[in-house]
Amino acid sequence: MKGNYTLTMIKPQAVKNQNIGNILALINNGGFRITAMKMLVLSNAQAKAFYAIHKERPFYGELVEFMTSGPIIAAVLEKDNAVLDYRKLMGATNPADADEGTIRKQYASNIQNNAVHGSDSDENAKNEINFFFATNNLYTSCGELVEEF
Ligand code: CMP
Repeated sequence: MKGNYTLTMIKPQAVKNQNIGNILALINNGGFRITAMKMLVLSNAQAKAFYAIHKERPFYGELVEFMTSGPIIAAVLEKDNAVLDYRKLMGATNPADADEGTIRKQYASNIQNNAVHGSDSDENAKNEINFFFATNNLYTSCGELVEEF
């Protein structure tokens, strides 16, 4: 299972702009299967914890404020080489640098409001999936319980 899963969030502004369906279509067309998904509003404590790795960065406060400003979608994506392939599909963190055809090129407006998040390593994918979803509730696209990542 290692390497087959990543975690994405569709961020508040993309949800407000009614782009959930468009982004999920790009994800499916990119060869990913959605194996778990939910909509929720992150609490301040949850957003701080999720992005704790950035807590010393100058943009941390604004990032937490933005990520708690409305509902998000959290989803588990399944594909061989999921983390790297999804990072390619998302495009660069700053949409100004994102390639044509990527999610961020089409649906992000700036580096903070960059439409989607994706895990940056297999280890973080596992941690981020566990952050949102109970492992005993995670299924593969074949309907089997995920036993390990
Ligand atoms: P994400 O992939 O969710 O991971 C961390 C987030 O921090 C990133 O997307 C951006 O939304 C945000 N971020 C990274 N760098 C900056 C920056 N220089 N200014 C503002 N926000 C940033």
